[in-house]
Amino acid sequence: MSVQQLKGNQHISDPDRAIIMLCKYRRNDFPCTLQLCDWLKCLGCDASVLLDPTPENPHTEKTAPINIGLAAFDLLDDIKAAVEDRCPGVVSCADILIFAARDAASLLSNGHVHFDALAGRLDGVHSHAAEAQQDLPDSTFTIAELIQNFKRKNFTIEELVILSGAHAVGVGHCSSLRARLTAPADQILPAYRGLLAGKCAKGPDPIVPNNIRDEDAGAVAATIPGFLPKLRKVKDFLDNSYYHNNLARIVTFNSDWQLLTEKEARGHVHEYADNGTLWDEDFSDSLVKLSKLPMPHGSKGEIRKMCRFVNHH
Ligand code: HEM
Repeated sequence: MSVQQLKGNQHISDPDRAIIMLCKYRRNDFPCTLQLCDWLKCLGCDASVLLDPTPENPHTEKTAPINIGLAAFDLLDDIKAAVEDRCPGVVSCADILIFAARDAASLLSNGHVHFDALAGRLDGVHSHAAEAQQDLPDSTFTIAELIQNFKRKNFTIEELVILSGAHAVGVGHCSSLRARLTAPADQILPAYRGLLAGKCAKGPDPIVPNNIRDEDAGAVAATIPGFLPKLRKVKDFLDNSYYHNNLARIVTFNSDWQLLTEKEARGHVHEYADNGTLWDEDFSDSLVKLSKLPMPHGSKGEIRKMCRFVNHH
């Protein structure tokens, strides 16, 4: 059977499921896996973002400054090794990314975000930092730039809003949110700006939780004590809290806040703040759409033996 004929996870039987591998890792690693599946980071879901720099190609996508947040590559290595052990040369790294994202999203949401991922993607052989830097949306983008960027891949304004909800989990580097530290009060709650500024002053480029509900209680008590009851006991829960935070001007990235500056996008922020179940369903559908994006035009594919290197390396 060719890989194109594979359906769902039939070649990753229960004992090998990506989820088992994920469970070996700390919950903290799951958001990275979700982010890795994001086509924005992998230019067409061909796993080109996983390729390591080599002497022939020293500037692969993962070296691009815009990809500063990507991690969990060792997790993907482990999953790939387990799958190769069981059925060598059958499951691509691109498919493994989607399976891992599916399982991470399900774990992080207590099963509320769930979708069936079809297999059959091939791994790309091209990976260039300059292309990633040029193609990917930046956290400093305006709403017009974000909409344009998503439109190029056939994603709507609504899907931009839905997918941005992934920022309910995970972390960001202060260098990704510098603009927020000086943003005016109508764009960011001043007390939250103060919290971020305090944390970002503590090192060259520290990380902060994307979701204020995952902040440490001490920092919140000192800056926004009224928010203390909303802090979560279990960090990194994937739900619609991003939209509530956004309406309260308590989000980390400029690109998050920008969603409030355009009528249709703002309407969807309200819609998903009001209806968490709808967001769970629509987010699942949007991840499926992401997973179906074709490889970049004209590119060749293979099933890599190791996710970090093309086969002829
Ligand atoms: C709308 C365009 C988007 C922009 C501008 C954007 C930007 C960013 C930035 C700047 C970070 C932090 C990187 C760092 O400093 O470490 C981040 C983190 C993250 N993003 Fe996005 N993103 C976008 C869309 C998405 C989408 C579509 C998804 C998934 C469906 C996603 C999932 C994540 C996750 C899970 C993290 C946290 C990763 C971790 O904890 O390691 N983002 N994003």
